[in-house]
Amino acid sequence: MELLTKKVKGAEDILPCDSYKWQFVEDIMRKEAECFGFKEIRTPVFEHTVLFNRSVGETTDVVQKEMYTFDTKGGESITLRPEGTAGAARAYLEHALYNNGLPVKVYYQLTCYRYEKAQAGRQREFHQFGMETYGASDPKADAEMICAVNGIFNRLGVDNIRLEINSIGCKSCRQDYTNALKLYFEEHKDKLCPTCLSRLDRNPMRILDCKNEACHEIAKAAPTVLEYICSDCSQKFNKVKTFLNAADLEYTVNPTIVRGLDYYTNTVFEFVTDCIGAQSTVCGGGRYDGLIEELGGQPTPSLGFAMGIERLLMVMDAQGIEIPKPKTCDVYIAALGEDAEATAFRLVKELREASFNAEFDIVGRGLRAQMKYADKIGAKFSIVIGDDDLSANKAVVKHMKIRDEQYEVPLDERFLDEFIKIYMDIYQKTISTSLNFNEN
Ligand code: HAM
Repeated sequence: MELLTKKVKGAEDILPCDSYKWQFVEDIMRKEAECFGFKEIRTPVFEHTVLFNRSVGETTDVVQKEMYTFDTKGGESITLRPEGTAGAARAYLEHALYNNGLPVKVYYQLTCYRYEKAQAGRQREFHQFGMETYGASDPKADAEMICAVNGIFNRLGVDNIRLEINSIGCKSCRQDYTNALKLYFEEHKDKLCPTCLSRLDRNPMRILDCKNEACHEIAKAAPTVLEYICSDCSQKFNKVKTFLNAADLEYTVNPTIVRGLDYYTNTVFEFVTDCIGAQSTVCGGGRYDGLIEELGGQPTPSLGFAMGIERLLMVMDAQGIEIPKPKTCDVYIAALGEDAEATAFRLVKELREASFNAEFDIVGRGLRAQMKYADKIGAKFSIVIGDDDLSANKAVVKHMKIRDEQYEVPLDERFLDEFIKIYMDIYQKTISTSLNFNEN
């Protein structure tokens, strides 16, 4: 078979055999966010390019190398979102969400687009779950945000994930640090890549997260930001640590974390694992006290995080965490002959209205093939209807695994009640045996 085309490099299909895993983790994340008082926000997949240039930052890898940017037929420059923070902040301002009282807490689940070198755990289309709080300056908010991430890992049963934190200070202490970095990188100017050379004057901090091998090597010995933060920032950082201690959360201070996006101030953090290879950061976030003002709003201390869902699922897989399999077909009605098919059609409708997962033949198979299919889709019960059953006004119900027991159901208006009785009866029996009723 020659296909017309295949999926674009760096994008993945999520197939029916795997989508339940996504639904499971997304549900858990949503529940955790809601426990913390966050409400979902959904923003468009594309935004005006200027939004990302200004928030993520002109000199970041994301803006300089990775954005999917195009001009529309109307001549507007549009970009597929490379992350969720900027769009959520834009929406917060555009819809004056601050009028509902601060802090405003939102969460999102979205696809992001970055033109990166595709490899395990790094895609060009990927999924993030994120949470953002606007209007909270207290270090308690930083610790609360980190606790929410930790809560998600706990609920999912994920362990062996290190929390690493750092503070990159405020605008004013950043200046001293920037000067120190400039001096340091000037000495290694001849080895920097052309992009980093251009960053030297504009934003030397971004050289620290350049993916070029040579730049990366030089960056290893660069001065670290913690030595430069002012006493106010240092105090705030200490308070964050105090609250993390109070919540019994283990962390290490990693002074090399600066995060690859320009909007961050003060606390930054990452959750890192050793079990999924090179792309080891499952979650990243921090405070961004200047972003809302940068986008035209009032000064609004804000913070958040985003977790890569692909990487999270890789960790769960590597740690052997079982995700409950989805419910399969409760009952398959096999029918032979036109009248029986019409009856099956009616009964399936009744069952579905009563929230049973019910199926019947829609491809015109014979009886044996229908039963084979019922087995394949993991149906718990089968009901077979032929001409004789129609004249007797009753049909045989079988549990697909307890084949030696069979029951009868009437095919008239008593059908649903009788079927439910049988269903419950077998359910009671199977919970007291090793045979799992819900097993596929
Ligand atoms: P980020 O560190 O760029 O931060 O991305 C967050 C997470 O998204 C990463 O830790 C990783 O799990 C996942 N991720 C990033 N790029 C890829 C990729 N190419 N393929 C697969 N997964 C990826 C942000 O995006 C910030 N907006 C987080 C934030 C929210 N900060 C404050 N609020």
